[in-house]
Amino acid sequence: MDKILIHGGHKLSGSIKVSGSKNSSLPILAATLLTREPCVVHGVPDLSDTQYMLQILTYLGAQVERASGTVSVTAEKIDSVAPYDVVRKMRASVCILGPLLGRCKEATVALPGGCIIGNRPIDLHLKGFEALGASVRVESGDIKVFAPKLTGATIDMQGQFGPTVLGTDNVMMAAVLADGMTVIERAAMEPEVVDLANFLNKMGAKIEGAGASRIIIEGVRELHGAEHWVIPDRIEAGTFLVAGAIAGRGVTVKRVQPDHVRALTDALARCGYAVDVAQDSVSILPNGDATALQLTTEPYPGFPTDMQAQMCALLSTNRGTSSVTENIFPRRYMHVAELKRMGAKVQLEGATAVIEGVDRLLGAPVMASDLRASAALVLAGLKAEGTTEVNRVYHIDRGYEHLDEKLSELGAHIERVKAP
Ligand code: EPZ
Repeated sequence: MDKILIHGGHKLSGSIKVSGSKNSSLPILAATLLTREPCVVHGVPDLSDTQYMLQILTYLGAQVERASGTVSVTAEKIDSVAPYDVVRKMRASVCILGPLLGRCKEATVALPGGCIIGNRPIDLHLKGFEALGASVRVESGDIKVFAPKLTGATIDMQGQFGPTVLGTDNVMMAAVLADGMTVIERAAMEPEVVDLANFLNKMGAKIEGAGASRIIIEGVRELHGAEHWVIPDRIEAGTFLVAGAIAGRGVTVKRVQPDHVRALTDALARCGYAVDVAQDSVSILPNGDATALQLTTEPYPGFPTDMQAQMCALLSTNRGTSSVTENIFPRRYMHVAELKRMGAKVQLEGATAVIEGVDRLLGAPVMASDLRASAALVLAGLKAEGTTEVNRVYHIDRGYEHLDEKLSELGAHIERVKAP
């Protein structure tokens, strides 16, 4: 397996451009199953996760073409059964359920397996499908949904840890072809949900309120093809802003929608970094002695859980004692043991990491465990003295397009070592 070596202590500067959003591309690509007509999606990042989704669409019978970031999908005739071997590599494949149920009125999709970041049930997705009139069975590891017809309903998407993002997407994609009106209460308000709703509306759907906690969907008889640009990846943008904070002397992240990263830029400003927000770029500058922070992850527009690990890496060398509370995936702390291997002082107390800032980190061999934890280890490596060796970088390739190349463009001494 490839690994990444980071020779720390080199200051980053300059600008970097953000790729298209992974978490927008995945449900939007799944939504192309809702029509027989060709769809064209631009700005799809070249990641193993988007590759997996294209393999799933091809397996179901869709014609798929890809030319750099542009993907064309024509799902003229499709099957509605996606077995374990096809979907097991990526949890997000669960978001083909809604489009298949909406279009084919039936679907059999293997249940997603366990996830290292924590317990990730899909009960809210299934509850939503049942409310639309579908029968739902989980049998021998498969989810089987069936409905002679779907009828609009009022559905609450709030779970124990807040609204569900992919659950809101899935129910929205099933409801666009249902009879009558569906009201999603306490829906997820993430920008990726809005981007999906915009794509569906271009296909002829009637969705109002995406981005707010109540979404109203007037069902239509059928959808047509459409062309769409996915939004920039706010988590990739956030990761580069933290890179600029942890090891920069002036880094600008371009092609970012500032309001999508506001919770992060506010947090960075609160702990002392100079943040300059322009129309479609954000710049970050060190500003003397960066301080500690009390942080809690929340559903959008709160502080994103997908930036929690990166912030732990940053706060590990900021002066004072910080606390980071993970409210979405309370056990999402696989990065902590690895940061401690680099000399960080972190105490886990339930869903809170108490971080005592240290003067320096030291490079060490560390193990990536999941997408965002691995990004945090790379960021810590930029700051650390000596060389950090991040193993299992396939986790990074799931969600970051050419992370190491982009960081070296900013002046990082980083290299990818191919497996022999
Ligand atoms: C999306 O996952 C993102 N993935 C995740 O990003 C992100 O961490 C998460 O939203 C939260 O922001 C994609 O968009 C592909 P949820 P999703 O359903 O939709 C509980 C990354 O790093 N829940 O919003 O699967 C759940 O356990 C990934 O890019 C239920 O209880 O997350 C969690 O505690 C990792 N029942 C909370 O809700 C359900 O039916 C939020 O999960 C569904 C979820």
